[in-house]
Amino acid sequence: MTTHSAIPDADADAVSRDWSAAFITPSFDLEAGGPAPYFRREFSLDEVPRRAALHVTAIGLVEPHLNGARVGDEVLAPGWTSYRHRLQVSSIEVTELLRPGANVVGAIVGDGWALGRIGYEGNSHHYAQRPALWLQLDLDYGDRREVITSGPEFTAAAGAVLANSLYDGETYDARLHPHGWSEPGFDASAWSPVAEFDWDRSSLVPTTDSPIRRVEEVAPKELMTRPDGRVIIDFGQILTGRVRITVSGQAGTEITLRHAELLTDDELDTSTLRTAAATDRYILAGDGIETWEPRFTFHGFRYAEITGWPGTVATEQVRAVIVHSDMRRTGWLETSDARLNQLYVNVVHSMRGNFVGVPTDCPQRDERLGWTGDINAFGPVAAFLYDVRAVLGSWLEDLAAEQAEKGFVPFVVPDVLTSPSPPTALWGDVAVSLPWALYREYGDEAILRRSYPSMTAFVRQVEALLDENGLWNTGFQYGDWLDPDAPAERPSEAKTDRHLVAQAYFCKVTSELAETARVLEMTEDAQHFDALAQRVRAAFRHEYVTGSGRVVDDTATAYALAIMFDILEPEQVPMAGERLATAVARSGYRISTGFAGTPHVLPALTKTGRLEEAYLLLMETGCPSFLYPVTMGATTIWERWDAIRPDGSLNPSGMTSLNHYAYGAVADWLHHVVGGLEPVEPGYRRMRIAPRPGGGLTHAALTHETVHGTVTVSWRIDNDIHVEATIPEGTRAQVELPLHPDDLIT
Ligand code: BGC
Repeated sequence: MTTHSAIPDADADAVSRDWSAAFITPSFDLEAGGPAPYFRREFSLDEVPRRAALHVTAIGLVEPHLNGARVGDEVLAPGWTSYRHRLQVSSIEVTELLRPGANVVGAIVGDGWALGRIGYEGNSHHYAQRPALWLQLDLDYGDRREVITSGPEFTAAAGAVLANSLYDGETYDARLHPHGWSEPGFDASAWSPVAEFDWDRSSLVPTTDSPIRRVEEVAPKELMTRPDGRVIIDFGQILTGRVRITVSGQAGTEITLRHAELLTDDELDTSTLRTAAATDRYILAGDGIETWEPRFTFHGFRYAEITGWPGTVATEQVRAVIVHSDMRRTGWLETSDARLNQLYVNVVHSMRGNFVGVPTDCPQRDERLGWTGDINAFGPVAAFLYDVRAVLGSWLEDLAAEQAEKGFVPFVVPDVLTSPSPPTALWGDVAVSLPWALYREYGDEAILRRSYPSMTAFVRQVEALLDENGLWNTGFQYGDWLDPDAPAERPSEAKTDRHLVAQAYFCKVTSELAETARVLEMTEDAQHFDALAQRVRAAFRHEYVTGSGRVVDDTATAYALAIMFDILEPEQVPMAGERLATAVARSGYRISTGFAGTPHVLPALTKTGRLEEAYLLLMETGCPSFLYPVTMGATTIWERWDAIRPDGSLNPSGMTSLNHYAYGAVADWLHHVVGGLEPVEPGYRRMRIAPRPGGGLTHAALTHETVHGTVTVSWRIDNDIHVEATIPEGTRAQVELPLHPDDLIT
């Protein structure tokens, strides 16, 4: 019998957290992007334990196997965290897979985020130079426990995965598949020893993130065969995942799959991928029907091009497999307008496509990073649509860990950039606003408590940068990023002064933090941050607002922020509302705002009694507008509303991802105003139900699964207006009926 370490008298938790196994790495040379090593260890059991759990992770991506079976259903595990602080361990019940006598535990380890090329700077090996496996198989016999751990008993070899990269794709030579490698009796005499790999085991944490899974399959909508034999497949929808093929042919036949978000002149247009090759290759074993799907990569695509297919591709032989963090859906909205519904569905698709372990900017190009500004803008919508407590909770832990170590909130979390990130509005202040948004949605003070040190650290850092007048007017800012009027090559040069934007956002986050301190009963802090909030508001008004309520720059962004962040004196608000309405009319109800302003324009118009203008802005279809991409056939939210121009060409700015959730922030207003639901108390214990019809809509229906239960609101206009709503027991709603003379019924 192989040696096991016995752990007598330990309770289950202690065993599972006694993670003393060694990390192991193959003793042979490996290059980033090259072959993925296979690891195996044979061991013998006198009897099958009462319970067995496999705890497993990797520096890289891990696919665990036991006795010939793939263990669990996670893909791309352990996801992406700030590995040096938190490396997640998956724990999977495996009792059924064990048998008396010989057993084999093993894993294939890919490059993933830890080793592969990540970030637009082009660097690989952000976390380590080599892949490494860590596993622990806990065997519970009732009267004793044993544990099989990664260690010198393992051997390793290269196998069928010849190349793997999240950006560039995977190459798999099925002829090299080591048949039976994770089963007893396999001849591993040619496999190499492993070496211990140095990694701080205190970074190991149980998985708290939602596992990444294969969540849906999509059949091709259309197969287009080109004269040279290439086949272009349209899956009808931009999605994130990969293509699974089922094929038979001669050994050595090589099939190539390329991916793209769009076609130009009927050919794949890969310009939105920048340098990501997004190319998978499968080399046939030639032994009958072969089914393959890459395991260590994902792509953002709608179209795939197949070359080298033996014979004719049939629809049933190809599927797109959607891959993302497996979260519970909690929010739905439908209206009488098909275009608006498509906009909404596009928001949902962009969220799904960009929650792959971490909330990313985009899933297709050589970026796919946890950009802070993007999730800051989109956070409230994300929390309405899905239960994001696990994914964003994990991400906020990483943010806090990196911030504490580095002294700044990185622009991207996990941070893979080579230079430090100065504090910025909308990006860095996610440290405050995202926990706040999650608290508003889920009503859980623990979210605020966990993030409190990170929230205060950010605000105190900016506080120290204010000038004697209370202005944050130095240093780098992304400002109203991607204002459509900014020069194509310089997206941060928006119409609205970037320091005005920063000051406005600082007004917002100081209030959120003061409120947080109150919730957590940190009285002194609450007073301090209240005073700070007042000071920076006064500074804003003094520097940027006229007595009557005009805001310098006279842009929609400047007014929207001043109105929504309660910066103005009450007597200044009507003028600001009027000027905002003028600004949106001046641009012909096209979008004239960037990342910082756009989410707040519709709410600011509504708040100042300009519902009609808000609907005009919402329903406009000219370029760029909320509905313009829908008229162009968009199936996701684009990085900019004019990513594809009316003549079908890509915007030359290069910022043209076709799957970016940030602007999906508009759905917040759809929920509150069209759907008519808004929390009054965090977690919807008290809520406001106040649908405000407009824009020619005759119907809308919203459903939201809150932490207290399901809320539904629907309204319909025929000769009359009908509103129906249901709320869970124990909650209260203040109902404001549209156009009702008395307005308010509680
Ligand atoms: C990303 C953005 C991000 C921005 C900030 C871009 O490349 O895709 O969405 O927020 O950079 O600079």
